[in-house]
Amino acid sequence: MKAKNCLIFGGSGQIGRHLIRKLTKNNYRVTVVTRNIHQKGHIIKTQGNAGYIEIVEANIFDENKIRKLIQNSHICINLIGILYEKKGSSFKNIHTLFPSILSKLCKQYNLEHFIHLSALGVSDAVESKYAKSKLDGEREILKNFSLSTILRPSVVYSVDDNFTTNFMTLLSRLPIFPLYYSGKTKFMPIHSSDLVEVIFNVISKNIYSQVIECVGSETITLKEILEKLLNLIGKKRILLPMPLFLGKLSAQIFQLFPKPLLTKDQLKLLQYDNVISGNYKTNSDIGCPAKCLFETEVEKYSSMWREGGQFAKKVNL
Ligand SMILES: NC(=O)c1ccc[n+]([C@@H]2O[C@H](COP(=O)([O-])OP(=O)(O)OC[C@H]3O[C@@H](n4cnc5c(N)ncnc54)[C@H](OP(=O)(O)O)[C@@H]3O)[C@@H](O)[C@H]2O)c1
Repeated sequence: MKAKNCLIFGGSGQIGRHLIRKLTKNNYRVTVVTRNIHQKGHIIKTQGNAGYIEIVEANIFDENKIRKLIQNSHICINLIGILYEKKGSSFKNIHTLFPSILSKLCKQYNLEHFIHLSALGVSDAVESKYAKSKLDGEREILKNFSLSTILRPSVVYSVDDNFTTNFMTLLSRLPIFPLYYSGKTKFMPIHSSDLVEVIFNVISKNIYSQVIECVGSETITLKEILEKLLNLIGKKRILLPMPLFLGKLSAQIFQLFPKPLLTKDQLKLLQYDNVISGNYKTNSDIGCPAKCLFETEVEKYSSMWREGGQFAKKVNL
């Protein structure tokens, strides 16, 4: 069978790197678009065998360049997303405008499939600019190109995430850790490999369900996540419920940093449970239930934050 060409935007990120490995192993050729080939080239290049990966540097709003790339592709996958706005990168541009342009081009050049990563809970979190921009992007895509599939993952974890690894770093450094909304927000964390399995199945089995919610098999509150991480790294810390006004004040300060730990918009998102809505198909419904368990997977890399490292005896606290 002739190898299909997948054009991937955001392929240098956490999910993209896992996806490139899965696709190239399974005889798909990938073209990865990055903003900076010098910075990201080696990360992308080492994810698959030579001959299977092409890397292209481009401004994602350079329509002529993107048009040429789409013309030579069978499948387009958009993994670009941001957690906070920066000069020149607004939620609207990245989550609404760009997916809208891409989906129109996919239609124009008769692509076989457009896969877009949105996020779980965007229909509920109406007050959040992040969620609104993701939801508007979804609407644009569904309007523009019927052969699109939108995946809405809960929080995604793996050894190279920005979620468990950041929390473990903060938990090992801070004696007291703030709990926003008393840590009651629920999540259904999904491992990168489980999510990539879903994307692979959507592509290889031509699954055209419009929206698929992608979740792990466990529902865990934020407080439980922090407790599990503390247990894995062998540390005791005070998890302190923080009044909302102090939460807002801290977010206001944090968002002044170049890589903010928390923004006011993220605080708004955090008040909504990040769990399946019951309104859409899930990864289990399309035959890809998550296999990984949160604690079992994180244990494999948590030793990096444990006293004494990988070979230290595990202390039960
Ligand atoms: N990770 C999660 O927990 C999670 C949960 C729910 C939804 N999602 C969604 O899943 C998708 C992939 O997530 P991820 O965690 O793999 O993302 P990521 O690692 O944060 O970033 C993906 C890539 O997007 C590109 N990018 C970032 N900002 C950009 C900008 N301003 N302009 C153009 N390109 C930009 C970067 O590629 P270059 O630097 O190479 O250009 C980056 O490597 C995103 O849409 C995200 O919103 C993720």
